[in-house]
Amino acid sequence: MKEKERFSELAISIAKTAGELLREERKKEQSIQEENQHDIKIHLDKKCQTLIEKKILQHFPTHSIVGEEGTKENQNSKYQWIIDPIDGTVNFYHQIPHFCISIALRYEEKIQLGVIYDPCIDELWYATLDEPSTLNGKEIKVSQRQDLDKAILFIGCGKDGEAGEIGATRFTKGVQFGRKVRAMGSAALGLAYIASGRFDAYLEEKISLWDIAAGKIILEQAGGRVLITENPKLANTYSIIADNGKLNLSPILE
Ligand code: IPD
Ligand code: CA
Repeated sequence: MKEKERFSELAISIAKTAGELLREERKKEQSIQEENQHDIKIHLDKKCQTLIEKKILQHFPTHSIVGEEGTKENQNSKYQWIIDPIDGTVNFYHQIPHFCISIALRYEEKIQLGVIYDPCIDELWYATLDEPSTLNGKEIKVSQRQDLDKAILFIGCGKDGEAGEIGATRFTKGVQFGRKVRAMGSAALGLAYIASGRFDAYLEEKISLWDIAAGKIILEQAGGRVLITENPKLANTYSIIADNGKLNLSPILE
């Protein structure tokens, strides 16, 4: 088997194994590790990342892990696995069935592979640089919608006051100029939903790489457009504007 196929097979099988863990746990009360007004971290976040990173390093011990719950192994490796063990932890904690596992592989700074798995409804998105995006094995494409007033917009409000204010302003404009605005609580699923033609755009300030790395390649390989800008004041924090590649979002951004 070629190396690229081994990466894909591993990423998909790990996402499904981690998904089993989340399915088993999702109706149980979870213990909080840390919380603030706009966020919750649970002990299961770490447990799930440990499961994922162990499996990756068993197969590729020289690779590095960059995850929401910490980094591991050789940080100089050209291969970096960018992981969010639970994207949508607040949903998970509140037993809202909308969260996922997000796994991306970056080689020499370019994302090569992305897998997003929603264990509640058994939906798995997958893409590589050489392959189109798929949902449960079937090729997907972004929507053809060009008119903002027909678009479904996912607006994220981030985790702090400043990101929240920008999100709230965009939310108001989205209500005014779009068809419907949604704030579902998982950036990765938001991107996967645009790739599948369910949503048409997603905007959020102060987001982390692990929330969007897999979604970026999945959306781009489905015909979408993703603009990620590093926050000049905050290291490893990004702003994202993503859509089906056909909308004019300026009324929401102005
Ligand atoms: C969060 C989710 C949420 C977004 C936050 C993210 P987490 O990730 O993606 O949709 O609004 O900015 O941090 O903390 O649940 O992995
Ligand atoms: Ca997370």
